[in-house]
Amino acid sequence: MISKPETLDKPMPLICVVGGAGYIGSHMVMLLRSLQYRVVVIDDLSNGFQSSLADAYLEKGSILDSVFLERFFSEHAVDAIIHFASSIQVGESVKNPQKYYKNNLVGTLNLLEHALAHGVEKIIFSSTAAVFGNPQYVPIDEAHPHEPLSPYGKSKLFVEQILADYELAYGLRSVCLRYFNAAGASACGKLGERHDPETHLIPLLLQQASGRLEKFSVFGDDYSTPDGTCIRDYIHVEDLCTAHLLALKYLDTGNASDLFNLGTGKGHSVTEVIKTVEEVTGNKLNICVSPKRPGDPAILVADGQRAKSILGWQPKYVDLKDIIRHAWSWEQKYPWQ
Ligand code: UFG
Repeated sequence: MISKPETLDKPMPLICVVGGAGYIGSHMVMLLRSLQYRVVVIDDLSNGFQSSLADAYLEKGSILDSVFLERFFSEHAVDAIIHFASSIQVGESVKNPQKYYKNNLVGTLNLLEHALAHGVEKIIFSSTAAVFGNPQYVPIDEAHPHEPLSPYGKSKLFVEQILADYELAYGLRSVCLRYFNAAGASACGKLGERHDPETHLIPLLLQQASGRLEKFSVFGDDYSTPDGTCIRDYIHVEDLCTAHLLALKYLDTGNASDLFNLGTGKGHSVTEVIKTVEEVTGNKLNICVSPKRPGDPAILVADGQRAKSILGWQPKYVDLKDIIRHAWSWEQKYPWQ
């Protein structure tokens, strides 16, 4: 009798998605499950939604809760963690740094402590372009200096540095992915961006297009950019998730920790985004100009070359119209269940 190859009997890895009920996390859970990974989600549902998880397995709890984490890791033999859970509003972090250092820093330290105690060896961490502060040059590569302007950006940079120390001391290997502007919704229409309060450009413009928002305010039109409005690098949420998957494979093949900037390398001004939203939705938007938002750099565009050459990442949605089309389909499904 011919015996089956060993790999056929090997179960798929168990991936713990922390913050898996949130915007990017829920898209990640959907991708992992479509590829037959075993997934367990940790989320306290403070910002996430159970309905975004379909039938994925959720352990409801906070990463600030040591008793919860200890029980969680003793019950689940986790192979790798993808950590999305954090507070994400730059402006709020300036007004309430305590919340950001507690949720993003203390919470992550706590998560790492329990994960390490239970033998977890791999983690993918959601970082941000906010670790760079005002760019000294664009596009921004991984060698660009770090001068975060906000407690949000600092909390993410501290974790990046902690992860580097933990690899040396404990052998915990990590990939930190610095997102530029996450945007869009799943192409299948099942998931999308859902923040409360919503502060991001594209969902707010779409709320205006659908009549949910009376007027949209452009934060400043006298930046030193061609049309005076800020330029950002909008990256489709599904492309971000693909990068996480590749990062997981990168760690699975034994590579050492690394950091990557994730963006398309193409910048769009606020005015260009407004025009594209008008084109996609067929609605003329009600726009006004208000003062600059403190801490907004004029231009943030990624040099995503390293992720392409090392991880083999290739963003699929490089046309802003596709990103907005998917987000518009999602907006039209409001109210979401
Ligand atoms: N904007 C407006 N009006 C609004 C909202 C946004 O004009 O009502 C402008 C902003 O000034 C900015 C652009 O639209 O120029 C994009 O703003 P978002 O709030 O959508 O995104 P940010 O660039 O501020 O933030 C993103 C991520 C953060 C990350 C940051 C890094 O959402 O998590 O990039 O700088 F920290």
